[in-house]
Amino acid sequence: MTDTYLTPPFRITRISHVVMRVRDLDASVRFYTGLAGLVETTREDGAAYLRGIEETSHHSLVLIRDDTPSCDCLGFRVLADSDLDAAEAYFAALGVSTEWTERLGQGRTLSVNHPSGLRLELTASMTRVPRTLTDYATRKGGAVLRLNHAQVIVPDVDGTGSGFEAMGFRAAEVIRQADTGQRIGLFLHRKNDPHDLVLALGAGPRLHHFSYIVGDLQAMFRACDIAGEMGCGSEVERGPGRHGPGNSAFVYFRDPDGHRIEFILPPMQFMDADEPTAVWSTEEKHKIVPWGQPAPQRWREEATSFTGVQVSQEGALARWVAT
Ligand SMILES: [Fe+2]
Repeated sequence: MTDTYLTPPFRITRISHVVMRVRDLDASVRFYTGLAGLVETTREDGAAYLRGIEETSHHSLVLIRDDTPSCDCLGFRVLADSDLDAAEAYFAALGVSTEWTERLGQGRTLSVNHPSGLRLELTASMTRVPRTLTDYATRKGGAVLRLNHAQVIVPDVDGTGSGFEAMGFRAAEVIRQADTGQRIGLFLHRKNDPHDLVLALGAGPRLHHFSYIVGDLQAMFRACDIAGEMGCGSEVERGPGRHGPGNSAFVYFRDPDGHRIEFILPPMQFMDADEPTAVWSTEEKHKIVPWGQPAPQRWREEATSFTGVQVSQEGALARWVAT
């Protein structure tokens, strides 16, 4: 357990949203509502705001029309408005630039240009909207429940991870390079499951995927069937399968711009603050990927750039995901 998990400099509670740029807003909304089953909260000024059927916040996915696909930022919720001021002071002391910004449906919002190149957005509140979980007749596609995590590729997992641990994140699970002990995969969390933010070693910073929880395997297969029906069956990129870390059953899709979305079944819980970090070694590939086909090359190599952020090097993901 990191010292800052219980006493963070400001209180992030969970990942709350991702903001993506897409070339054809109508096509992307069709994909995310028809295949994933997200609910469109509103569409204004060239942007669509969507949420899972269990979510009562204004959005967990924002799609902004633009000629160049990218990820603008990863959003995190903080516990109270005062945590935003604490975050501003924390980053100012580190010499990290921040600015107060506005986004529809959100309260006061602090944007952070994290030294890792990741773009973060912190807010304490969103407009409340109805939970559609029990509107059974309106369910579509995979009927995704809620946003669970984002995975980013960074060239320095250890250094980037330490920065997030200092902000109060805890490593629920870690993958170490067998011969060097280097951390090459890091599952960081604030809420009580294995991941809000996953770091993986590779050319970055880039967004590898964002992940929503689905209710059951049938929802995954239904989304796969709909992908075929929508003419994008080849964009069912990997899975269904199972990850060792998190014990997550997964399937990955590519959206019309190549952004990657993962569906997972409800993950295991990390309910106590003193639960030990689960450690995996690259020697244990048969445990990290317990069964199924190897990850396809494009899953290892392709990812989404952050808007205006230079990718530091070219290369594939680290070998632990190459199995
Ligand atoms: Fe994931």
